[in-house]
Amino acid sequence: MTDSTQEAAVTAEADENRQRKNGLYGRVSAELAENMKRGWADTERRGLEPVAQAEYAARRREVLSARFPGELLVVPAGNAKVRANDTNYPFRPSSDYVYLTGDQSQDAVLVLEPAGHDGRDGHRATLYLLPRSDRENGEFWLDYHGELWDGRRNSLEENEQLLGLPCRDVRTLADRLAAAAGPVRLLRGHDAGVDAALAGTATAGHDDEFRSFLSGMRLVKDEFEIADLRFACEATVRGFEDVVRTLGTDTPTPERLVEGTFFTRARIEGNDVGYASICAAGPHATTLHWVRNDGEARPGDLLLLDAGVETRNLYTADVTRTLPVDGRFTPVQRRVYEAVHAAQEAGIAAVKPGAAYRDFHDAAQRVLAEHLAAWGLFGDRSADEAWELGLQRRWSLAGTGHMLGLDVHDCAKARTGMYVDGTLEAGMVLTVEPGLYFQSDDLTVPEEYRGIGVRIEDDLLVTEEGNENLSAGLPRTADEVEAWMARLRG
Ligand code: GLY
Ligand code: MN
Ligand code: MN
Repeated sequence: MTDSTQEAAVTAEADENRQRKNGLYGRVSAELAENMKRGWADTERRGLEPVAQAEYAARRREVLSARFPGELLVVPAGNAKVRANDTNYPFRPSSDYVYLTGDQSQDAVLVLEPAGHDGRDGHRATLYLLPRSDRENGEFWLDYHGELWDGRRNSLEENEQLLGLPCRDVRTLADRLAAAAGPVRLLRGHDAGVDAALAGTATAGHDDEFRSFLSGMRLVKDEFEIADLRFACEATVRGFEDVVRTLGTDTPTPERLVEGTFFTRARIEGNDVGYASICAAGPHATTLHWVRNDGEARPGDLLLLDAGVETRNLYTADVTRTLPVDGRFTPVQRRVYEAVHAAQEAGIAAVKPGAAYRDFHDAAQRVLAEHLAAWGLFGDRSADEAWELGLQRRWSLAGTGHMLGLDVHDCAKARTGMYVDGTLEAGMVLTVEPGLYFQSDDLTVPEEYRGIGVRIEDDLLVTEEGNENLSAGLPRTADEVEAWMARLRG
């Protein structure tokens, strides 16, 4: 056989299409194709223990099932977004998918099918996933997202053991969905293929209700989630400590080095960050979401560091400390810092079961208004008047916190009656993060305040007795912050 007939036999146009344009070796000889199929050891893992989250995910699926009897429920993990050509952005599965499965695979879909007579007997859960790459058709090495390129995947059988769910090839899902009869609820916007397959079932109110129920389910954390958030906060403390050791006391420290130092600690310990770290020195601290991080932390300035470790299970901390770069607050920095600290104390004291969600915001904002009034920033208006009119918001800018969990701004789609207009319950985790931000160009404040931004942010677990500060491993009072920095710098 000549070279050219060998090649023609194995190089269908379809094969070329799935290879990279401008790849050097487009054609695959028959001998190479045969060669690549053979000589691989059996790496199947057997007798695997379920992941710790599996039993919790099963309970969560039961809650969801009970709320939507007789309906087909579809929760995709989502697809990777292409960055350029065959390069993707880092993939993060949809939080609801993770919550209901304990899994983090891309392209996967959880399907809850009504079970029993009339579909009134709960649901049968099935996970649709990509199986191992096929060795026979060469996809494992010829496809740029085959296993030889992106790494080994779990087999369907391995995933069944790990996740405690029947697992099927996700490439069979479209047919399964096409055959679906009866009501369907889909978490849309994560997987374009699934959205298209179920386009005929889309009704806005119907899916909004599904989305908002899922989001609301996540308000009260179970013990697995609380343990993971506790771990995220502890890991975050170590990142902040590394940053303090890195800050120069007599030379400027690039904000980028602060960002990299925190990130390095997270990555070394096998974690990630739950959002872009805000490393805001000097007047940058007055920009709430300063993530450009292209400035310098100079001795004499404050550094506002808002950063949170995201664990391997994808729960994130969200913590802010505002630090004097050289280790000592100036009098005016301390004045602003202590006002924010007093506001945070008032906010934290209002976090307890049965309290309105609004209470801790109101408590903290009122204390800020009192300090601003005492400094004469409201002119003739009293603190009460300013508070009624919301005038403190010129300098406090944001609300005082939010729910925390798999997402840094967790449960954002929950019904307002359960969230901002709701009541705190034991098991909720939220941030308390008052701040004061005096812009450099704000002519309504004395010059010495301009360019100062202070936020103090902690992660609070609502307990039966009140609350527990999960990020208490970091100091909060001005004196404690100074002592802590001095100690870390030896
Ligand atoms: N890091 C974002 C926030 O504090 O809400
Ligand atoms: Mn926050
Ligand atoms: Mn934050």
